[in-house]
Amino acid sequence: MTSVSGVDAVVLVGGKGTRLRPLTLSAPKPMLPTAGAPFLSHLLSRISDAGITHVVLGTSYRAEVFRDYFGDGSAMGLELDYVVEEEPLDTGGAIRNVADRLRADDAVIFNGDILSGADLGALVDTHRTAGADVTLHLQRVADPSRFGSVPTDGDGRVTAFLEKSAEAPTDQINAGCYVFRRRTIEKMPTGRPVSVERETFPGLLADGAHLQGYVDTSYWLDVGTPEAFVRGSADLVRGIAPSSALPGPIGDRLVLEGAEVAGDADICEGSSVGPGATVGAGARVAGSVLFPDSQVADGAVVDRSVLGAGARVGEGAVLRGVVLGDGAVVGSGCELLDGARVWPRVTLPDRSIRFSSDA
Ligand code: GTP
Repeated sequence: MTSVSGVDAVVLVGGKGTRLRPLTLSAPKPMLPTAGAPFLSHLLSRISDAGITHVVLGTSYRAEVFRDYFGDGSAMGLELDYVVEEEPLDTGGAIRNVADRLRADDAVIFNGDILSGADLGALVDTHRTAGADVTLHLQRVADPSRFGSVPTDGDGRVTAFLEKSAEAPTDQINAGCYVFRRRTIEKMPTGRPVSVERETFPGLLADGAHLQGYVDTSYWLDVGTPEAFVRGSADLVRGIAPSSALPGPIGDRLVLEGAEVAGDADICEGSSVGPGATVGAGARVAGSVLFPDSQVADGAVVDRSVLGAGARVGEGAVLRGVVLGDGAVVGSGCELLDGARVWPRVTLPDRSIRFSSDA
């Protein structure tokens, strides 16, 4: 990775994370334990590894928890600055709102819910070589119809911002990471919500600004949905997604200190088991994230699922593609399948089947 100097970083972490409810009722999305560490740790490690030191966090929802955890950032070799929006200003408004904290001529802006392997040095080099007002990381994806697409011309300049369409003319999508000139940020409207995707970028293009694309094919994932969240966590555990903030060696599982796992339990496919969590005899936990103090009883199966802090899964229960809020309880023998979400502290009673070979 090319080292970057002379830029600030801005990370947008003020969203409500509605698609990840109920997990985001108690913690903002960037603070959710992902491969054993808050999601944001992985992104900050990438920023630090690239050689950027000054990072401004644009916060709004549950702003205080970021400072409580990361403090001044010195433990990660960073200098962290916090800006709080009283009312959420949306992505563009949040960028404008941190302008007076920026020190360099250019700032790299990150959505706080993206896992990516893009080379930040190469992104900034592209920006400087092109002399662009804004350079967008554009990711090539297999199915662009699920996203808005961003075509570029032969010189790599952005030519349009297109809505989602089955007939997308390019496989390049906005990857949620940009280099902005500070003076471009300073021209954005203040004090009101602005969407960078829907208002700022199309407006800049219409005004003849130079928007450059940095097209990339390395690892990229938006972890905004439960399915993507468990996949991202498992990819980090297995070393498929890059991070130097993993609190253990890369492998098929990550069992944190203070967790208790029965000898014959099968923890696999990049699962992580948080401190104080327990997994009983004969249970199988695959591609899942167990938050601190959650419990999986004997013989239960937890597949591609997230268990919130202190959530409990009863004997022989089966969960596939499920989210349990903090302290939720799924009784013995229950079966919950794709998309089911159990709200915090809700209890689903035991079903009258028994798990054991003599049942
Ligand atoms: P959903 O509600 O599930 O869509 O999630 P979200 O609220 O995080 O929104 P989205 O995924 O579109 O946001 C992209 C990035 O921008 C995330 O890192 C958010 O934290 C951040 N973000 C969204 N809205 C705001 C805002 O009003 N202020 C700030 N500071 N950040 C925001």
